[in-house]
Amino acid sequence: MLSYVIKGGNKLNGEVINSGSKNSALPILATSILNPNPVTFYNVPEIEDIKTTIKILRFLGCKIDKVCDKITISSCDINKTEIPEELMHKCRSTVILAGALIGRFKKASFSFPGGCNIGARPIDLHIKALKKLGVRFNENKNNIICKSKNIYGTKINLDFPSVGATENIILASVYANGTTKIYNSAREPEIIDLANCLNKMGAKVYGAGTNKITIVGVNKLKPINYRIMPDRIEAGTFLCATAITNGKIRILQANPSSLVNVLLTLKEIGCKISISNNTIRLIAPKQLKAISIETQPYPGFPTDLEPIFTALLTKAKGGSRIRENIFENRFEFCKELNKMGAKIKIENNEREISIKETNEIKGKTVKSKDLRGGASLVLEGLIANGTTIVEDAEYILRGYENLDKKLRKLGAEIKLINKK
Ligand code: UD1
Repeated sequence: MLSYVIKGGNKLNGEVINSGSKNSALPILATSILNPNPVTFYNVPEIEDIKTTIKILRFLGCKIDKVCDKITISSCDINKTEIPEELMHKCRSTVILAGALIGRFKKASFSFPGGCNIGARPIDLHIKALKKLGVRFNENKNNIICKSKNIYGTKINLDFPSVGATENIILASVYANGTTKIYNSAREPEIIDLANCLNKMGAKVYGAGTNKITIVGVNKLKPINYRIMPDRIEAGTFLCATAITNGKIRILQANPSSLVNVLLTLKEIGCKISISNNTIRLIAPKQLKAISIETQPYPGFPTDLEPIFTALLTKAKGGSRIRENIFENRFEFCKELNKMGAKIKIENNEREISIKETNEIKGKTVKSKDLRGGASLVLEGLIANGTTIVEDAEYILRGYENLDKKLRKLGAEIKLINKK
């Protein structure tokens, strides 16, 4: 079992390089299934979810060459279309691979995906959309088997702008007969990144970043090199980690335009923010101000930064509130923060929390229950009196590259240990 051990009390100060985006890299790696030519991606983060995806791609028959953040994938010899259950369970985004397999081979078999324990996370919208594209589904106890003679471009109305369902429809439609139109599509920057990557290969994906995406089917794709966008959730985490410790930071190689709402929220809390090209600077105020936040699909406030801002707001003067509108079970980590002395109340059917300012946060042994909730415990550990041990750090490693190393460079006392 991996744990972070943190001795609190140090201000963060310095600069950090923003890693490549986890949520972009996952669907972009899936494009390699669609494209039988070799493709090279740069800025691929070294995180567990990517390692799982690479294992699945290798299992399917892809040849993969990885050097640091550069990965070259050749999928011309893929000889399987079944995703193994134990790997499928490791991370939710593996469901995206199904859309790519169906897009190229017109068949796929997989089990229900895993991922963080932050709600039911069904895949009904994915299945409904793929059925509209002509895919037939057969389910047995553990497996979903899908096949189609062909993929037929059609109009798909999403009941909710699901990120994963939007990506799956795009991937499945690249080689469709005719044109697919997605209404109420997700508008996240990672969808734009996926569309840019596919279009560089020769696909025709229009309207990414808006709520109506059009995919005109093509016959073939060409080899490419593509650089994955910076991770906006990692950038937001480092900004909050600095703000909670009253520090100063420069985040290099970031994408400030993907963080507009987050940067405005940090300004409202009292942080000084300046941006130039790909750099974001933050200077924390002496006293943070309380605020109310509500998570929404992009361009609203991102649900993935809700746990991170919860930790930050335990130091804000007055009472703050957060309402979670995307996932129904995202507040488990609050119980762990309360063990450290935070004053968080879960209210309104577990949909809202109220956070009171806490004068003393104490170092304790706490447990990660999910990726971002786990990261919020690390932030709280940075300001705790004494030593905090964040157990089950495996969750955090799913989505943060070198978190301990980067925090140490900024002045934190943190190490990752392996407790047997
Ligand atoms: C992606 C991100 C995740 C982020 C989330 C919302 C990746 C790898 N993960 O997850 O970090 O928190 O977007 O911004 O990109 N839903 C259904 N049925 C479906 C699909 C989704 O009811 O078929 C619901 C979910 O339970 C959830 C909401 O829709 O309540 C949003 O889910 P979705 O946008 O699909 O998130 P993911 O793609 O899983």
